[in-house]
Amino acid sequence: MTPTNPAPVSDAELQALVDAARAVRAHGHAPYSNFLVGAAVLDEAGRMHAGCNVENAAYPQGWCAETSALAHLVSAGGRRVRAVAVVGVAADPVTPCGGCRQKLREFAAGDCPVWIADLNTVRLRTTLADLLPHSFGPEHLT
Ligand code: THU
Repeated sequence: MTPTNPAPVSDAELQALVDAARAVRAHGHAPYSNFLVGAAVLDEAGRMHAGCNVENAAYPQGWCAETSALAHLVSAGGRRVRAVAVVGVAADPVTPCGGCRQKLREFAAGDCPVWIADLNTVRLRTTLADLLPHSFGPEHLT
């Protein structure tokens, strides 16, 4: 069974995550795609962890903003993702790539809210379950 998140996350907390993702996006290293992305996750202690995309001249060695944010969460001792924000600028809302959806799934329950924003507005309010339905997760291995 998929674990449920401990408490609903408020819109104010999600907006703070969006702000953190916007701020960290400016530090992205994206000289090849010129496509900056920022992400932020809220942990079980109410802490926010933000990260940007980090590209590499050896293209496959780059990684996504969500991966950076998760690395910060785990490095700080966090083990749950209660909410996610992703910020990017494109015609369509910049949703997490497939690999990052699975990486987020490792730490997030299905009802985890995911807000997708650009520099000015929140473009999409969704959940991890909507982004990655019928997902495989740690519970399958226990
Ligand atoms: N990227 C992210 O950081 N997160 C996403 O959700 C989508 C894509 C990055 C990877 C790469 O550095 C750039 O955006 C273009 O794909």
